[in-house]
Amino acid sequence: MTSETASAEIARRRTFAIISHPDAGKTTLTEKLLLYGGALHLAGSVRARKNQRSTTSDWMELEKQRGISVSSTVLQFEYGGCVVNLLDTPGHKDFCEDTYRVLTAVDSVVMVIDAVKGVEERTRKLFEICRLRHIPIFTFVNKMDRPARTPLDLMDELEKVLGIGAFPVTWPIGDSRDFRGVYDRLSHQVYQFEPTEHGAHKAPFRVSGIRDDAFKNQMPPEVYAAWHEEVEMLSLAGEEFDLEKVMNGSITPLFFGSAVNNFGVQHLLDYFVKFGAPPAPRRVGERVIAPTDPAFSGFVFKVQANMNPRHRDSLAFVRVCSGVFEKDMTVPNPQDPGRTIRLAYPQKMFGQERESVECAYPGDIVGLVSHGDFRIGDTLSTTPGLEYHEIPRFPPEVFCYMRNPTPSRYKQYREGMDQLLNEGVIQVFNLLDAPGTAPVLGAVGQLQFEVVQYRLKTEYNAESLLETAPYTHVRWFAPGTRKEQLGDLFLGTGVKLATDIAGDLVILFPTEWGIGYFKEKNPAFAIHTVSPADRARITHTA
Ligand code: G4P
Repeated sequence: MTSETASAEIARRRTFAIISHPDAGKTTLTEKLLLYGGALHLAGSVRARKNQRSTTSDWMELEKQRGISVSSTVLQFEYGGCVVNLLDTPGHKDFCEDTYRVLTAVDSVVMVIDAVKGVEERTRKLFEICRLRHIPIFTFVNKMDRPARTPLDLMDELEKVLGIGAFPVTWPIGDSRDFRGVYDRLSHQVYQFEPTEHGAHKAPFRVSGIRDDAFKNQMPPEVYAAWHEEVEMLSLAGEEFDLEKVMNGSITPLFFGSAVNNFGVQHLLDYFVKFGAPPAPRRVGERVIAPTDPAFSGFVFKVQANMNPRHRDSLAFVRVCSGVFEKDMTVPNPQDPGRTIRLAYPQKMFGQERESVECAYPGDIVGLVSHGDFRIGDTLSTTPGLEYHEIPRFPPEVFCYMRNPTPSRYKQYREGMDQLLNEGVIQVFNLLDAPGTAPVLGAVGQLQFEVVQYRLKTEYNAESLLETAPYTHVRWFAPGTRKEQLGDLFLGTGVKLATDIAGDLVILFPTEWGIGYFKEKNPAFAIHTVSPADRARITHTA
């Protein structure tokens, strides 16, 4: 593999995720990008797809039942000379940690905004994370076929609520039921679309100039005049399209459309492929690792058990950051750096389908079959000692015990719990001095526990009982603190010492008040909301 080949491959990678508030149209847009990207030949309606389990990113039964997207999958397709890697993100707020992890693995983001509702809460939170990471953001204002807010109003909201300037690449023609197309402000062409039944096929379109009679005459003269004036005003008052500002995340290219009707989707895809960010260098402590660095490196941002019920194993999703990944290469074992591990059976995913991978470039996502070999956050690299610190954990906010009510199915329960806990979606705390007791589990949202229960049942045929644990907060001691150093610690009622999965000492509190009381009584011990490892990561990211 020559370095020119690798550089060319890196330059054509576009790895991104779609962020939005639930219901803004993320799933619909994903499907339509696949349709326009040639990866799907017939788009079904969202509902039909939810019932069908086709090549979509919504593949879990639970997702169908709840109508939410729980797991993240990767969809790869070639378009316009580029290799597009689209990472799906869960929409439900209980999975924000999972979404955050996906955002560490992308180079740009498409933000979907509902034209009726404007910027909503989840969008705002996810946007903040992208901004912290300086990720380029492309914005798609969806549902223009509904009685939407005016485009100027929506642009204003982006500026006021998110603090980001927008450059409208397209501008809508008509609104609500009269929404019929977009004006491409970079090519200066007008695109008028025709709907197809259920938006199953690409929308046919006509192209014309902004002053062509064929276009003008379709609107009452006063409507055309007002629209034309708005377009002129944008050119006079607005910013120039500045790719550097897009790349550093200070302005967002803005597109208007209707994903359900396929209007405006092609523009988003074409310009995204043209201007979207290729893989960028990543910081590792004081070093900067460029994607063109010849040594292979990448990190695990997700571990998912039983991606396909036919394969009873886990897949660790690795984002390739530098060098070239090659099947069967060996790297230091992240769990035991003195030994090596062979990266065998690499897989490429398309929704639920798997395909073997021979090599992958920076920007690509590779799935590695894992039998507990890989953890979220692990670095895999041919450079010994290299460690990306990309993935912090969110402090858990709900706590429970999970029990096996059917002793005869202990083996299945144990196997399921081991694999699912290893995915890192929920955190595990073992109480000190309480041998044989069930571990305390912590998650950011209750739904995460329910997913584990559901998956235990469907994937391992093991029932489970969920009981609330009497804790509301967890705090970590300083790195390396040992139990013997704690001396006469004053704990207070219901407060317990435990260890996390890395063996770091934590305290579990039954109330928020207990934290203040603990601090007052034990001024010699500093306690922290995140684990020592995560503190390093968050500081690094910020
Ligand atoms: P999400 O992944 O962001 O949660 O949103 P999703 O794509 O599932 O879309 C949420 C709802 O919005 C769906 O309606 C979908 O059809 C609708 N939708 C998506 N894009 C557009 C659009 O451009 N225009 C309009 N008018 N609606 C759109 P639903 O009622 O949940 O399902 P269905 O009955 O439409 O199938």
